[in-house]
Amino acid sequence: MKNIHLLNHILIEHKIAILRDENTKTKQFREVIEEIAMLMTLEVLKDAPIKKIIVKTPLEEVAQTVIVENSIVIVPILRAGLGMVNGVTAMLPSVKVGHIGIARNEETLEPVEYMCKLPEGIQDKMVILLDPMLATGGSACAAITALKNRGVKNIKMLNILAVPEGVEKIAKEHPDVEVYIAKVDRELNSKGYILPGLGDAGDRIFGTN
Ligand code: PRP
Ligand code: URA
Repeated sequence: MKNIHLLNHILIEHKIAILRDENTKTKQFREVIEEIAMLMTLEVLKDAPIKKIIVKTPLEEVAQTVIVENSIVIVPILRAGLGMVNGVTAMLPSVKVGHIGIARNEETLEPVEYMCKLPEGIQDKMVILLDPMLATGGSACAAITALKNRGVKNIKMLNILAVPEGVEKIAKEHPDVEVYIAKVDRELNSKGYILPGLGDAGDRIFGTN
């Protein structure tokens, strides 16, 4: 599974412990989701679009490599992916943001798309999908297919927690998509929740349940 990248960093592990804790309240949960997204941004940008510019220091001019921010679009999968947006834009303040709304049918666990609003010209950009949870992989694959149907070719994905079945599904159906995962958990329960997991990410970010 060459397209799957595990982050394996103690700082991210440390923060995942806070997310998992059932006593972590909404405010801190949101902050930590953002912080992990910010740290994951470092990894996903390893093959970011770049260009050389000339910068004048107080002493002389120097050629410096910079990221072409307007060649990158981030797309959170609603709702929980919204929690990761500020973490990425803290690092890349000029990126455009599209939105894909996908919710799992609670009985069948099948993904249902209920909205899609993407910036003009997205087909030529590097698109980074955001969703803290990769469970069955249905939502991620539906979002990737929605982007591909609109002509997007360069797709990356950031997930905080995943389980092996979700990872395998995305690797099999979309081997061209680079997926960055902070932690792979054990399994899904009969209701499609990740174990040990962190519960319902959307509910914990937005204080609903
Ligand atoms: C959650 C999560 C993912 C999806 C993962 O969203 O944020 O989008 O489940 O599950 P899957 O891999 O089995 O598709 P949910 O459908 O609960 O919607 P919400 O974010 O609006 O709560
Ligand atoms: N979505 C969540 O928010 N949590 C899970 O454990 C699985 C899917």
